Amino acid sequence: CGIVGYTGFQDAYEIVINGLRRLEYRGYDSAGIVLDSYNNTFDIAKTKGKVDDLVAISENLRGKAKVGMGHTRWATHGVPSDRNSHPHLSNNGKIALVHNGIIENYDTIKTMLVEKGFTFQSETDTEVLVNLIQYFMDINPDIDFPTAVRNALNEVYGAYAITVMHDDFPGLLVVGRLGSPLAIGLGDNEYFIASDASPFVEFTKEAIYLEEGHMATISLQDGVDIRTIIDNSKIDPTVQELKLNLEQIEKGGYEHFMLKEIFEQPKSIHDTMRGRILVDEGIIKMAGIWDHLERFKNAHKITIIACGTSWHAGLIGEYLIEEFARIPVEVEYASEFRYRNPIISDKDVVIAISQSGETADTMAALKLAKEKGAFIYGICNVVDSSIARITDAGSYTHAGPEIGVASTKAFTAQLTILSLIAIKLGHHNGNLSKQDFMKLITELDNIPNKVEEVLASTHDYVKEISKQYADATNFLYLGRGYNYPAALEGALKLKEISYIHAEGYPAAEMKHGPIALIDENMPIVIIAPKKGHYDKIVSNVQEIKARKGKVIAVVTRGDEQVASMADHVIEIPDSEECFSPILASVPLQLLAYYIAVLRGANVDQPRNLAKSVTVE
Ligand code: G6P
Repeated sequence: CGIVGYTGFQDAYEIVINGLRRLEYRGYDSAGIVLDSYNNTFDIAKTKGKVDDLVAISENLRGKAKVGMGHTRWATHGVPSDRNSHPHLSNNGKIALVHNGIIENYDTIKTMLVEKGFTFQSETDTEVLVNLIQYFMDINPDIDFPTAVRNALNEVYGAYAITVMHDDFPGLLVVGRLGSPLAIGLGDNEYFIASDASPFVEFTKEAIYLEEGHMATISLQDGVDIRTIIDNSKIDPTVQELKLNLEQIEKGGYEHFMLKEIFEQPKSIHDTMRGRILVDEGIIKMAGIWDHLERFKNAHKITIIACGTSWHAGLIGEYLIEEFARIPVEVEYASEFRYRNPIISDKDVVIAISQSGETADTMAALKLAKEKGAFIYGICNVVDSSIARITDAGSYTHAGPEIGVASTKAFTAQLTILSLIAIKLGHHNGNLSKQDFMKLITELDNIPNKVEEVLASTHDYVKEISKQYADATNFLYLGRGYNYPAALEGALKLKEISYIHAEGYPAAEMKHGPIALIDENMPIVIIAPKKGHYDKIVSNVQEIKARKGKVIAVVTRGDEQVASMADHVIEIPDSEECFSPILASVPLQLLAYYIAVLRGANVDQPRNLAKSVTVE
């Protein structure tokens, strides 16, 4: 789901189509474009499918207009279809609208509009909004277009980022946001609109991130006028200097973003630690923790909330914080937390982990925790994202833009931040001796080198063995302790991009169910570094082999015991157990990647998945 808009002097078709391509990573199932060529009717094209499908039906629009907007849709209300694709037009054909999010009370509004004689072509909530704008203009002919948009937005609740055009006001774009992100790029005599800055970063480095509950009217004549939706108060916007560069959001010679991002991990982990670990001085510098140390030290408990891969990072965070800082930690899916009246008070710390910083459930869960008085902390990758902005404090992961839908480098960066937090807290509350502290930070500081080593030593081998597993229909991933969540994440990677059913389990739980599935056709990935529960996992491997399962083992370099039983052995360097999930994750990302490539799957944009889930 993504929005792109343009008003200026360049070909709007080019800008919008290229912009939509840049947003493809967010995940979508249909695409559309509308242009205003000053000839009194909109030129519109939309279709189920990809941006390439849209181009195939709309090339005649190239060069026709200097104003336009486009959309990629991820279906919520109504199946992916040409009809349900955006832009949507109002009944009189004069207003066009693109929308991300959900209008929750669309049904009531639709009933009212139907009574007034409006008709609907699609099943979407969006078409209701565009007609509501027309309705406000119909009943009050003196009203100006932005006011009609504002009136309509004041009637709806839910989550949205919208861009609207009116045929009678060519060159004018009206945008609004509540819940879903929207950025305005400020060029020289041109303006851009997009769900994030990637569509316009090559044209301008200046952007305004629209705030919650604000709308903007944008035109070449009058520039950008920002108002609150609720009472039309004028807002003085903050113009931000974009740090993003084009290279970061292009594939740089790799076949897919995912592979590029897997290979970026030595650098992204290093960037996450940069300026934070000072081994020579024996300190971890993290302003977000240091400034609120008492809140953390006195916390009755820490609750980590997240979704998807970030939730897996949270599970490892629990092990880390409990081991080193001895503060009780709970990890919850944000979507569960928010709806179960959780026991949270002002003695609690709630940490949200989110790559995008926009996940709707995580955002809502945080708001709830804040209402209950908790101190809320964010671990986000996207700078200035919604979650980063509502939290009391936080730490950015600095992994750089992650474009592949399946999260890789953001995950290992999250583990890096959680390690830093746990070790720092453990140091300050006296649970870690100076010696242990030094040992841990020295080791963590060296993890980027070890990840580099893992990439170099496992890549070709993993690529080769993928061939033997590309036709599997099921996979089991097992691990214990710190590597149990790493097993969950390994399984998630595989199912997300290859569509092979995969489950992760704590290795010991295997005998309580999954063992029934094991036969000679069942590949089992087992993460078994020579640490902690090694002996126990040796027994688990024996149990699998006794049932003829195929074992792919991730072991510490030089391991003989597990290696002698496994069908395939992937070696990682020795490290502290708490950092082994970072090292073990890398070959599992590669395994998922190569299996998906062999199956011909769309690795960077897997079916049905979205990168940034801004609906609940
Ligand atoms: C989506 C993505 C996942 C991601 C999850 C949470 O499902 O496809 O890769 O882990 O959202 O996203 P967040 O941005 O909050 O980390």
